[in-house]
Amino acid sequence: MNIVRYPDPRLMARTLAVKDPDDEVRQKINAMYDLMYEEQGVGLAAPQVGWSARIFVMNSTGDREQKEAQRAFLNPRIRKRRGRVIGPEGCLSFPGLFIDVERAAWIQVEFDDPEGTSHTAELDGFEARIFQHELDHLDNVLLVHRMSQADRIRHRDALDRLQRAYEPIG
Ligand code: CO
Repeated sequence: MNIVRYPDPRLMARTLAVKDPDDEVRQKINAMYDLMYEEQGVGLAAPQVGWSARIFVMNSTGDREQKEAQRAFLNPRIRKRRGRVIGPEGCLSFPGLFIDVERAAWIQVEFDDPEGTSHTAELDGFEARIFQHELDHLDNVLLVHRMSQADRIRHRDALDRLQRAYEPIG
């Protein structure tokens, strides 16, 4: 399992809901956790490993030892949102790129866990931001789509570098 970087078209592939998750799904989720920690990320969405499934993982501490902060979200949805907050975001699919993105400050969400049980939760702060960033991945919305015109000019070199580094497979 490897990180898929922009502009790989797998980041733009349509994602499918995961019903009745099995051991194979749970193993892939565990592999996503490993890769997220290795890459020093706080979130990782399935399309970022070339898996077109509506799944993402996060740990807002970025620390493998902080297991209570580790969560996997299957078929996630935002039910309610409140407030707006602007803050910096990076993405493992855009190494070296950080831009300010406006997000809801508070969200009420629903999702399934890796056993297939449904939950609702309320998130704020960094976890709310990570959730919204990762949910964007499942809807094929990337940092490059959240950039203002000024961001595109400011980060043109970084985007050009990613374009040049990308080698299509096959
Ligand atoms: Co990302």
